Amino acid sequence: MSGSSSNNQRILVGVSGGIAAYKAIVLVRRMIDAGCEVRVVMTEAATRFVTPLTFQAVSGHPVRTTLLDAEAESGMDHIALARWAQRVVIAPASADLMARLAAGMADDLLTTLCLATEAPVQLAPAMNRQMWAHPATQANYARLLERGVTMLGPDAGSQACGETGTGRMMEPEAIADALLTGEGAGDMAGLEAVVTAGGTREPIDPVRFLANRSSGRMGFALAAEVARRGARVTLVAGPSTLATPAGVRRVDVETAAQMQAAIESIESMDLFIGAAAVADYRVARPAEQKLKKNGASLSLELLPNPDIIATVAQRGPRPFVIGFAAETERLAEHAAAKRQAKGMDMICANEVGAGRGFDTPDNALLLLWQDGERVLPRAAKTQLATQILDTYLQIKQDSSHASR
Ligand code: CTP
Repeated sequence: MSGSSSNNQRILVGVSGGIAAYKAIVLVRRMIDAGCEVRVVMTEAATRFVTPLTFQAVSGHPVRTTLLDAEAESGMDHIALARWAQRVVIAPASADLMARLAAGMADDLLTTLCLATEAPVQLAPAMNRQMWAHPATQANYARLLERGVTMLGPDAGSQACGETGTGRMMEPEAIADALLTGEGAGDMAGLEAVVTAGGTREPIDPVRFLANRSSGRMGFALAAEVARRGARVTLVAGPSTLATPAGVRRVDVETAAQMQAAIESIESMDLFIGAAAVADYRVARPAEQKLKKNGASLSLELLPNPDIIATVAQRGPRPFVIGFAAETERLAEHAAAKRQAKGMDMICANEVGAGRGFDTPDNALLLLWQDGERVLPRAAKTQLATQILDTYLQIKQDSSHASR
């Protein structure tokens, strides 16, 4: 669906059982305010959290909850409802709902509609972090993505169950924004992109690790912008509490080795952006038990980590590779050498130290590529993300002209 007609879309909002069900009220409200027509379908479990009457009042239409309701079926039957929808958005999508969809079940109205519709289906998963991380849920998630279902979130942060981690439903305002701006319609539509972000953690013992000051902001801003421009994005992120940008598939990792493995498992990519501050070294033998102090000095043996971006740059077929360089001196010279050494197509160099670059909301960058350079003066990282991608598209365009 194109972004331009998004304000009068016919949207079917599915609500499954979870504490985040109350947030779907805000989503429905936003979509209606933007001019969309919304019908709500709830699972049986969802009605335990919010009453259908609430959604009826907000959407202005009766809410459907069951498949075999003769009265409702005599109005708009479930096949007609499936055809009516131009988009299906399920928020929250519980672990159970995802499992049923992945299995292709049609044991209630909502899952039946998902099978019967030709409209794109989007899920905003919401569940406890352990349930989200469980291999069964991850397998269902991967299977749904393969079938073309788009994911909105989940976010990381504090959860209703009192824990902190990935599994929170993306905020309803952010879901509404994603639906209204319309992914897949931008100047990067059709591209597969992979972005790394944040710092890695290299364990010393079960409670300690080597880390760095990276906040992940630059990588998250890039992932958000690439998705907004229509590409399919996988964000491989080191530990971070930043919200998952709309439409982005997020893979959380901790160590450089896990980041490397996550990237190796992605078969094809057109664009790779290495914004992560990957640890160059890992502890040779992390202790199995907590290290005890004994007054003597302590040495850690460090082994070099694989260079992820250099490995990606040697792939065949090779994506366009954008990397970063954080330097404390001789910025242009060091960055140019780093670009060459790692086989990057473009490098975004910044000066660090003395409060610059790391863990700040803004930065200044020097972009270097084979035939040019561009200075990006100090700006918010979200704005820099836009400029980096504009430059990337320009380079691609110039090279396709040159090869004609
Ligand atoms: N990078 C990577 N894998 C590593 C280390 C770095 O993919 N093991 C990527 C980063 O994501 C970044 C770029 O390489 O895009 C530059 O990283 P940086 O740490 O500045 O470069 P180093 O090669 O570590 O050079 P230095 O000697 O300055 O530490």
